[in-house]
Amino acid sequence: MGIISELPGLWEDPRLEAGRWEGRMSENGNKDPLSTIQAAHSRIDAWFETTRSALANDEATSACAQLREVLETHFAQEEELYFPTLWQLRPDQEKCLRGLIATHAVYLGKVDKTVEFIGAGRPDDAVACFEELQKLFAAHEVEEEQTLRDMR
Ligand SMILES: [Fe+2]
Ligand SMILES: [Fe+2]
Repeated sequence: MGIISELPGLWEDPRLEAGRWEGRMSENGNKDPLSTIQAAHSRIDAWFETTRSALANDEATSACAQLREVLETHFAQEEELYFPTLWQLRPDQEKCLRGLIATHAVYLGKVDKTVEFIGAGRPDDAVACFEELQKLFAAHEVEEEQTLRDMR
């Protein structure tokens, strides 16, 4: 039995019903963790674009705050629900999944740094910091998706 078919319990987690998590995984119309996380990543990518275009205007700080919230929610899902469930099924992947989790703080730190630069009236540094974040996070998404693909 493959890992995908062993996962239905994950999607019935009562915490999803309790509204603890942003949205329900079943909204994607499937129970495949890879597709679920890919869909979440696509939504986050769109937030990155929205934030990137807001950096030059008055909305920059609030756009960053919204992006931070989106990232925090996604990280909480991965750290407290998706990844622990996956490594219960595949203990050999625990180290790798924990390694991915360990980098989450870096991305939040870069959002904060971007906001700091905006507040300090340093828009060029804010853009540079944000672009670095966007690049790092894109690589993180690719790595996570590849890890899940390898687990199938
Ligand atoms: Fe992640
Ligand atoms: Fe992710």
